[in-house]
Amino acid sequence: MAAKTIVLTGASDGIGAAAAAELRRRGHRVVLVGRSPDKTREVAGRLQAPWHVADFAHLSSVRALAADLLAGYPRIDVLANNAGAIFGRERQVSADGHEMTFQVNYLAPFLLTRLLTDRLIESRGTVINTSSLANRLFGNLDLADLESERNYDPRRAYGNSKLEQIMFTFELDRRYRSHGLTSTAFHPGVIASNFSGVAGSAMHAAYHTPLRRLLGTPEKGARTLVFLADGTPGEDYPTGRYFVRSRPARPNRQARSGTLDLALWNRTTAMLQQD
Ligand SMILES: NC(=O)c1ccc[n+]([C@@H]2O[C@H](COP(=O)([O-])OP(=O)(O)OC[C@H]3O[C@@H](n4cnc5c(N)ncnc54)[C@H](OP(=O)(O)O)[C@@H]3O)[C@@H](O)[C@H]2O)c1
Repeated sequence: MAAKTIVLTGASDGIGAAAAAELRRRGHRVVLVGRSPDKTREVAGRLQAPWHVADFAHLSSVRALAADLLAGYPRIDVLANNAGAIFGRERQVSADGHEMTFQVNYLAPFLLTRLLTDRLIESRGTVINTSSLANRLFGNLDLADLESERNYDPRRAYGNSKLEQIMFTFELDRRYRSHGLTSTAFHPGVIASNFSGVAGSAMHAAYHTPLRRLLGTPEKGARTLVFLADGTPGEDYPTGRYFVRSRPARPNRQARSGTLDLALWNRTTAMLQQD
């Protein structure tokens, strides 16, 4: 199989760093995107890979990243939107005025994808979104309260952001599959990583106590991402789907109708035009 150019966010740690290592081992050109320059440089040095940094809490940083990627890579075969986080009990607002979970996990990757869409179409590329089972456990989307202004709870905000990612995946695939751009989302498993590192966050205890040894390794968490990035979309697996353990699975019922996907897409596009 020909080597692909794979842009991978959240590549400085956990599932992203493990996926980057395996995709490099398989001969692909992996473009690492991290937030921390020191951590990203260290992983890039080990993998002999190009690297960039961006903080998704700032949409200006996402726009600068997209400009660098467009200037640096004439082909982008895969965009893996893997960066993500869960936040603490107090609702936080980004520099752009958005609830932090909504921005970092959904709005920033949506913006990055839209800024790279033409390049991805030219490359007949694919977008892979790292979602989470939390879309089913905690997701309950209210289009009238996307920023959790009325009803903030960290797990619900996280579950909603991961549900929004799935709806975005489905709508992107629906719109662009006939143009050559496909998209899939997946749940990586419950993985011992730096995830939920914010003390006091809803899931901190599970990830940072002795319970941690019951969780999967980052390498295991990377398997579905590697399967999707390495394979041929539409041939090795169906696109416009949500995957668990490298197989199509059922997401939250809110993502199954298609109507809400379109409404969310339009609302998000309008929001970004105002920023
Ligand atoms: N671990 C699990 O059990 C689990 C389960 C379901 C889904 N997921 C999802 O899997 C993905 C990877 O998580 P992980 O478990 O590998 O966690 P991790 O070890 O904490 O890695 C998260 C990555 O995202 C980056 N990131 C965090 N906030 C960012 C921001 N504001 N701007 C840019 N990059 C940012 C981190 O950068 P830094 O290195 O600078 O922090 C890091 O590279 C996430 O989307 C997460 O929601 C994880």
